[in-house]
Amino acid sequence: MSIRGPLVVLEGGEGVGKTTQWERLREWLRASGQTVLALREPGGTPPGDTIRTLLLDPVGALAPETEALLFAASRAELLTRAVRPALAQGTLVLLDRYLLSTYVYQGVARGLNTDALRAINQFATGGLVPDLTLLLSLPLDEAQRRTKARGAPDRLEQEPDGFHARVAAGFSEALTAEWQQTHSECGPIVLVDASGTREEVTARCIDILASRWPEHFARPAGITSQTA
Ligand SMILES: Nc1ncnc2c1ncn2[C@@H]1O[C@H](COP(=O)(O)OP(=O)(O)OP(=O)(O)O)[C@@H](O)[C@H]1O
Ligand SMILES: [Mg+2]
Repeated sequence: MSIRGPLVVLEGGEGVGKTTQWERLREWLRASGQTVLALREPGGTPPGDTIRTLLLDPVGALAPETEALLFAASRAELLTRAVRPALAQGTLVLLDRYLLSTYVYQGVARGLNTDALRAINQFATGGLVPDLTLLLSLPLDEAQRRTKARGAPDRLEQEPDGFHARVAAGFSEALTAEWQQTHSECGPIVLVDASGTREEVTARCIDILASRWPEHFARPAGITSQTA
């Protein structure tokens, strides 16, 4: 009998360091001899990457419903073509954003109906629940400093401050037991302090992951928390 691989998701608002940690965790796993499939949302497949361009294009103006459906379409493609086959082979899959982002951005920040979002995403995901979501958390002004330093803003980054404050509130609410009970399709969500250096944040992620999956994340000899 084969055992499905773990599905781990990195979440949080813009600039908190999701992609940075997703790359670092991927490289850390590879350096310790493990197989990992690391994919990002939206995108991660050729059709999904086309949808990503449409979603992040600063000149595009999309109705919130269109935006939600495009995210779900990209997700369906990613799961069918890449995530499910990898998990079925026992491979660990690391996603840069997943379903929680939909509830926060399209639900809390854009005001779309939660039940509608749940329905289209149930259809898109076939009910695939992450085993663990690491929610990176950073004060908004610090995250904005990081994105400004990164360069040209994309369409979501150009949203007014109120939008980003709603996003931050939405992510905070997702940490409550009540929210997680009523959104069981998102799986367990744990907070990771995203302040400090890239290395410090990676070490925090690995400590959490190692307590859940020691076979994947126990530090091999030669890889210390300094290099993490
Ligand atoms: N711990 C850190 N300290 C300082 N800068 C960082 C840290 N982590 C990431 N950065 C930098 O901050 C910027 C934003 O990080 P990153 O792109 O990983 O964020 P993100 O959460 O993926 O954002 P987005 O939601 O927009 O994709 C990048 O330029 C990155 O190099
Ligand atoms: Mg990113």
